[in-house]
Amino acid sequence: MKEQLKSIEERAKAELEKVSDIKLLEEIRVRFLGKKGEVTAILKQMGGLSAEERPVIGQLANTVRADIEAAIQEKQKQMKAALAEKKLAAETLDVTLPGKAPRAGRPHPLNAVLAEVEEVFLGMGFDIVEGPEVESDYYCFEALNMPKHHPARDTQDTFYINDNVLLRTQTSSVQIRTMEKMKPPIRIISPGRVYRSDAVDATHSPLFHQIEGLVIDKGVTMADLKGTLELLMKRLYGEDTKIRLRPHHFPYTEPSAEVDLMCFNCHGKGCSMCKQEGYVELLGAGMVHPKVLEECGIDPEVYSGFAFGIGLERITMGRYSINDMRLLYENDMRFLEQF
Ligand code: DAH
Repeated sequence: MKEQLKSIEERAKAELEKVSDIKLLEEIRVRFLGKKGEVTAILKQMGGLSAEERPVIGQLANTVRADIEAAIQEKQKQMKAALAEKKLAAETLDVTLPGKAPRAGRPHPLNAVLAEVEEVFLGMGFDIVEGPEVESDYYCFEALNMPKHHPARDTQDTFYINDNVLLRTQTSSVQIRTMEKMKPPIRIISPGRVYRSDAVDATHSPLFHQIEGLVIDKGVTMADLKGTLELLMKRLYGEDTKIRLRPHHFPYTEPSAEVDLMCFNCHGKGCSMCKQEGYVELLGAGMVHPKVLEECGIDPEVYSGFAFGIGLERITMGRYSINDMRLLYENDMRFLEQF
């Protein structure tokens, strides 16, 4: 039996030396140390041994078993390490491979033009202020000299939350909020969303954007209004740009004007874009009405000022020759990537 055990140990170790597969390793364990394995078979035969031989063989058998077990474990450790190494080598990062380029975003054309406008006004010492989109009837109409049932309200039908609260139809509401808070001299612009219950077409949308302007000081005149707007338009459309003021009516300005821009396409000659007029209508403006100043606690005998409301969509469409307003809201990347 001693010889048998010695031979078992030698054969087991020889096989372990050669093995390179983790599954075969398990097979070796079963074959030598398992319930029906060779070492177990020896142990089962020990009943036939003499009382002197039994402990000697028993001890030897245990040593052989422990040695084989240790050898298997050692081999297993080596195999696992080799496997991990191989995996690591296979997974190294190849920094020379071409990368996946992330898609770069860009400002929406409306935001790009707004940023340009803001920069021009900041350069002239204006502040940028904001006002609420959900507005009261008072700020949107009443305080702007448009009492209930004033016909000028008809062109600005909007979404009412109740009789007194509505989605603002114009950023002019911010004029009132500003004059309530600030003392002259005031120089602000206020960009933001406005709402009207208009059907969608190439030039209308129930949601669009305006940039309101307000200047209040001593001795402000219509010439200041024209100079300010002309400077903006030259910056946006080029130094040879001209503007023209036409008499108009707004309840909150006196006198009021509509401001036209020399057609950026034909430079005043007349073309299909300006319907042969040479000019395109751009925005509303005027000298702040004395009643509006009084309503806000500013003495019209001491102070005067001008105001204007620019349609952001309109100046953006002119700037980039966009002929349909809907393109600005559809979020079609093929369109937006052109700017
Ligand atoms: N609020 C006018 C509109 O939505 C535009 C406007 C006209 C604004 C004259 C003004 C102004 O500040 O003085 O059509």
